[in-house]
Amino acid sequence: MKVLVIGGGGREHALCAAIRRSPRVSEVVCAPGNGGIAQVARCVKASQKDLGDLLRVVAEEQADLTVVGPELPLALGLVDEMLRRGLKVFGPTRDAAMLETSKGFAKRFMQRHSIPTANYAVCGSRTEALAALELFHHPVVIKADGLQAGKGVLICETKDEAERAVTGLFSGELLGTAETNVVVEEFLKGEELSFLALSDGKHATPLLPAQDHKRIGEGDTGPNTGGMGVYTADTLLDPKMSEWILHHIVQKAIDGMAAEETPFVGVLYCGLMMTAKGPMVLEFNARFGDPETQAILPRLESDLVEALEACVQGRLSETEFRWKPGASACVVAASQGYPGSYTVGYPITGLDDAAKVPAVEVFHAGTTWDGATYRTAGGRVLGVTATGATLGEALGSAYPAMERISFEGMVYRRDIGRRTRV
Ligand code: AMP
Ligand code: GLY
Repeated sequence: MKVLVIGGGGREHALCAAIRRSPRVSEVVCAPGNGGIAQVARCVKASQKDLGDLLRVVAEEQADLTVVGPELPLALGLVDEMLRRGLKVFGPTRDAAMLETSKGFAKRFMQRHSIPTANYAVCGSRTEALAALELFHHPVVIKADGLQAGKGVLICETKDEAERAVTGLFSGELLGTAETNVVVEEFLKGEELSFLALSDGKHATPLLPAQDHKRIGEGDTGPNTGGMGVYTADTLLDPKMSEWILHHIVQKAIDGMAAEETPFVGVLYCGLMMTAKGPMVLEFNARFGDPETQAILPRLESDLVEALEACVQGRLSETEFRWKPGASACVVAASQGYPGSYTVGYPITGLDDAAKVPAVEVFHAGTTWDGATYRTAGGRVLGVTATGATLGEALGSAYPAMERISFEGMVYRRDIGRRTRV
């Protein structure tokens, strides 16, 4: 069968590599893909921001299954259009993706279905938000309602800071566009955990839990990024806690979406804070995490395509998952300046040497191939991933592999996987 993957980052590289391992797959196409993805899939030009262009690729390729990586095509309604045309597609409809695309919707949904989350107020004006601030202790969290690629969350230590954040979001000064809704939220303390589950709209099956490292700097300092590294380990989460999260968070969300007639088919990513009072949802995403997917899929031994197809066909409960025991780690190499502005086009050396380290896979997040050399083409450039019997072993392969790679201004965190308990 032929599988089409939409997207062009490290997540899509990991997806394409896992899809290609399926004995049922004869061809993998990625739109638009990137320099590294071209090693495992045929890449075709496409604009991820343009629904018409994505539908053109879909019509041209006639794939047996399409897998949507990023959130933007979901928000544009790519899945809705494909379903209308009777095509097989893995990912939620635009309404189901609102769990990610509107923080206000997600918070109200959690409240309706008694899913544990931080106390909050959704505010439609600056005046309303300033009044709501009186009800919260500091630090307080201020969030823009819509998709902001991790940039719309502000943790404010003082009242002054919070007032400035609210004013800046509503005026458009902070993010470039004026927000119509802002969420004011209680600050939660604890370790963060990414808990992803596949769903066919009714049933849910968890993937391996992972811990992301969102800040740019070592010791969790500096601005938030899309994720600078992530690990999985059999010791990361107690099986009883995993069951609790599956039943009290994931299954409740899937049941709630079905009851509201927007069944969720795809991967539900729960960004959790493991607080003293138990796990609480910080955010939902309606897609695979990045870099989480780069650490999770190398440990999947069973057939990913079989699982994705089971979701689309409503028979996930019959599907078995087998995981390689142990651990995995993915360390991200980024361009100097990320998550702010950065320069692209620098040649990357050492990729072949890095791939020779046993148990290592190098996923490309932002690269191009000019026929002779790979060059940097994004903020996050590479995800160097390794598996191992223990987290220490995985890190002991990922870091030496990373040291073989270099490009101008290469930045990576040396402390991925140091905090090993949630
Ligand atoms: P979000 O996009 O909602 O996941 O937020 C991005 C990051 O901000 C999260 O990964 C957390 O590190 C932090 N964050 C968001 N909400 C809260 C909260 N209520 N309490 C503490 N930290 C938060
Ligand atoms: N790693 C965070 C995300 O995918 O949203």
